[in-house]
Formats: sequence, structure tokens, C-alpha cells
Amino acid sequence: MTPLNIPEWQSLVRHYSDLKYVSMREQFALDSDRAQNFLVKSGDLLLDYSKNRITKETMEKLVALAQSVNMNDWVERMFSGEAINNTEGRAVLHTALRNRSNTPVMVDGKDVMPAVNAVLTQMKNFCQQVHNGEWLGYTGKRITNIVNIGIGGSDLGPAMICDGLEAYGVEGISVHFVSNVDGADLSTTLEKLNQETTLFVVASKTFTTQETLTNAQSARAWFLKTAKQADVAKHFVAVSTNAKAVAEFGIDTENMFEIWDWVGGRYSLWSAIGLPIALYIGMDNFERMLAGGHEMDLHFRNQPLAENMPVIMGLLGVWYINFHGAQTQAIVPYDHSLARFPNHMQQLDMESNGKVTNREGQRISYKTGPIIWGTPGTNGQHAYFQLIHQGTQLVPVDFVLPVNSHYPECDHQSILLANGLAQSEALMKGKNAEEVRAELMAEGYEGKALEALLPHKVFPGNRPSNTLLFPQLTPEMLGQLVALYEHKVFVQGVIWNINSFDQWGVELGKQLAKAIVPELKDGAEISPHDSSTTNLINLIRTLRK
Ligand code: F6P
Repeated sequence: MTPLNIPEWQSLVRHYSDLKYVSMREQFALDSDRAQNFLVKSGDLLLDYSKNRITKETMEKLVALAQSVNMNDWVERMFSGEAINNTEGRAVLHTALRNRSNTPVMVDGKDVMPAVNAVLTQMKNFCQQVHNGEWLGYTGKRITNIVNIGIGGSDLGPAMICDGLEAYGVEGISVHFVSNVDGADLSTTLEKLNQETTLFVVASKTFTTQETLTNAQSARAWFLKTAKQADVAKHFVAVSTNAKAVAEFGIDTENMFEIWDWVGGRYSLWSAIGLPIALYIGMDNFERMLAGGHEMDLHFRNQPLAENMPVIMGLLGVWYINFHGAQTQAIVPYDHSLARFPNHMQQLDMESNGKVTNREGQRISYKTGPIIWGTPGTNGQHAYFQLIHQGTQLVPVDFVLPVNSHYPECDHQSILLANGLAQSEALMKGKNAEEVRAELMAEGYEGKALEALLPHKVFPGNRPSNTLLFPQLTPEMLGQLVALYEHKVFVQGVIWNINSFDQWGVELGKQLAKAIVPELKDGAEISPHDSSTTNLINLIRTLRK
């Protein structure tokens, strides 16, 4: 099934041609209620989507498109545990991990909630023991440093949340994230730490990931420089689906926190993969984050499509990607503690919707997932915003704005917020030639000098953005925000008729790397590669010290 043939899609193609020359600036001038008409709320989270290239009719047509692909049915199929990850034959149930209403969620005839709750209790007990000093290191000292060893979904989400909720950090506990197999990542982390007070969380859903196992082995070797094998149990715990591999690695399965195959890696921060979060901010705050995610789930499941935040964001994305030809989406949080938010969203979106094959296995001929990127404001303004304002690419932007800071001792918040608002206003309005002319004349320019400078100072405007506004970045709010983007990605996957929950595209590189590792040794046989790769292998051998 291709969405291109759906009448509602065709109708949007025609609507796009009609709307091509309509500017948002005019729309705002014509409709004094525009800001109110394109506003949606979920709890304390507000989405202003009025600065988009849309009219009331556009939204009606986009919602009709969502209806035509049975969006509501898909949402129910996901929440109710159907195996919608068809290529892996798995349910997709990150929503069960934060199901605070605790209603049964059935997979293959079995309610998963008792197992989810049991692991949450195990996490709670463990965090309490570490925090109150019952769980001590091998020389009787308290644990002060947590090192999470994981990669991709077993790293990005937890690292982002720990940064984002730094203001909630438990006193006396620091957290570190080691992901890269580049030895610099582990070495530079360990050089600051002491074996007696460090706890390693080895986080790997599969427990087969080369980078994570290599880092975990080196961390254990570092630990054994001062401690004995019998002490490993006090300093290494694991999060995985794979108890056998955990035991083989030498971690006591008593100290393993279970996750399940129905949790996708990039959707797993809500599971025991979130253990470093719970150790860092405390289990109560972790549960507050789950509650925020659950609140967004209720919104997504129950609100009509036209008032549904993830649906609206997903549809706007489709509008820009498939009709306006946008290739990227910037996510710009005006909160320094959310510096890693775009990175997590990058994996979430690009690993989910970076697909060229539809659910039926056919190659598709329309655009799917965009390139996701961004950094915190205001830094981005002084780096890449030039292109967003005046470049030739259309880059929709999500501005993420918390009203109040956790750091009032440096009261910079008004400047920060004003900058966020100014960017979205400037992108929408732009500055036309008449306005630039008036400005230049007021500055004393005239004649040729004025005419030469004028075109460079024109801003085309009509550049779209969303603004997500909320009172403060609390655990609940961050939970809501992450769940919002998870569901947005799902909405787009449904429209594009792709499975957002597999990631076969990462396998080929892994396979090839395994084959190349032994070939980098001097004298080892080199299997047939393309001539470039063979040449590079030989060069590396020669240059290697
Ligand atoms: O290579 C991609 C990937 O499979 C991600 O989907 C996943 O989050 C990451 O690797 C880590 O996998 P694991 O948790 O099994 O080590």
C-alpha cells in the first residue's frame, strides 16, 4: 500500500499548489485568533503550531489523511500489545513500562504488568540500598560514581535524562556514560574514578553488542587492578534480556535487571535501561518521569486526532517532508540541560523511520524519516541559524522552551526565552525589501550603497516552527516530552506504511566490522573487499605503531 494513491494524499497535493504563495505573515494579519486556533495542550505542556504553513483547511486535510490510514486502529494495536513490529514478530510496548494505571497489557495471552512492576520494585530496592549505604563497595565504602556502559538506546536516552534532570540529582552520586569503543571514552572516564566507590551498570538489551562488551571487559580489567574476582558482584550489575550472556560475562544474574524483547532499544529508557537515571535522581523521580510519559500516552490514545499533540506534530512533519520537500528537522531546546535531547531524538526518529521498504516489503518511492539535528539555544543562533533564516533549504524547527529555570541564581531566563521567541518570530515574518530599505535609509544609506546592501539584508520569512512551552523541566515534563516525540515518530511511520520498530539497516556495518577486526593484524589474511577498503586496511597496517 502506498499513501501516494490515497485520495486524501492527492487532495493535499492540490492543496499544496494552492497554498504555495500564501504567507504566514498574511495569515496572521487576516486572523487575529490564529495563535489560539493552532494551539493544543497536554497537561502543562503546550504546543503552539500557528507558525506553520497551514490554514484550517490544511489541518482538516492532514487529519483526513490520518483517518484514511486508520490511525486510531494503529494506536490501539500498539497499546494493546499486538505484534506490530512485523519483521521481528514483536509487540511494541514501551507504553506498558510507564503504565501507571496498571491496567493489564496482554502479550501472547499473558499480562506483562506483573513483570514490569517486579523489575520496578527491584530497581527501587537497589537504588535505596545504594543511596542509604546498605550496598557498599568491596572495601566497605559507599558507592559515589555510577558508570553506565551501553550504546545507542542503552546510552543516549538515559544520558539525556540524567543531564536534563541534573537539578534532581541525589547528593553524593555522580553518573558517567561510556558508549564509544574508542578507548579514549572509557580511559578518560576511569582516570577520574576509584575502584572502591564505582558501580558499573552494563546495559545491553542483547548483551552481544561489540562496543559495550569490549568496554565492559576493559572496565572489569581496570576494577581487578585493585579488587578480586569475588568483588565483581558488588561493582557490576547488568540490564539485559540475555541472562545467559550476562552470566557468561561473569555478572551474577541476581544482579541483573530484566528487560523484554517487546521494548525497542531506542524506546527503553523507561525500563531497567533507565537504572542509571534512577540511581542518579532517585526512584521517586524516575517514577515521576514514568507518570509524565503515561500522561502523554493517555492524551495520545484518547484525544481526537485534530486535538492530539503527537498526531499534529507527526502530520506537520509529513506536510513538510512529502509536500514541501524538507529533508531535515531541527530540534532546538532553549535549556542547556537538554543539550543531549536532539541526540536522543536523532536515534529515536532516524533509526525508526529511516526506511526505504514498506510493511509489505516493497521499495517505496516517497520520502520517509528526516534528518534530525539541533543543539541548545542560544548557541545554535550563532552557528547554523543563518542557513535556517536565509539558506535555500527549508528547515522546520521545534523550539522547546521551559519558562522557569532550575538555576535562578544566574537569572538569565528572560534573555534566553526572548531569544527563543525572537527566532520563531523572525523565521515566520522575515524582513521584506521595503522594510530593509526603510531601515537602511534611517541608518544614512543611500543610492548605490543602499541598493548593493539591500538584497543581503532581506529575510524571506515564511519558515515554519513549532513552539513547545511548559512551566519548568520537571521529571514529569521530560517524560511527557520524550513520549510526545516517540508517538510523533509512530504517527509518521503509520502514514508512510513502514515498520518504525525494527532497525535492519544497522546490521551490515556490524557484520563487516567483525570481519575486518582480525584483518588489521600484520600478516593476517585479508578477505576480498573492494580495492579502496583493501588499500585502507594495508595502509592502517603500515601506519600502526
Ligand atoms: O545498532 C543499533 C542498536 O541495535 C540499537 O537499536 C540499540 O539501541 C543499540 O544497538 C544497542 O543495543 P544493545 O542494547 O543490544 O547493546
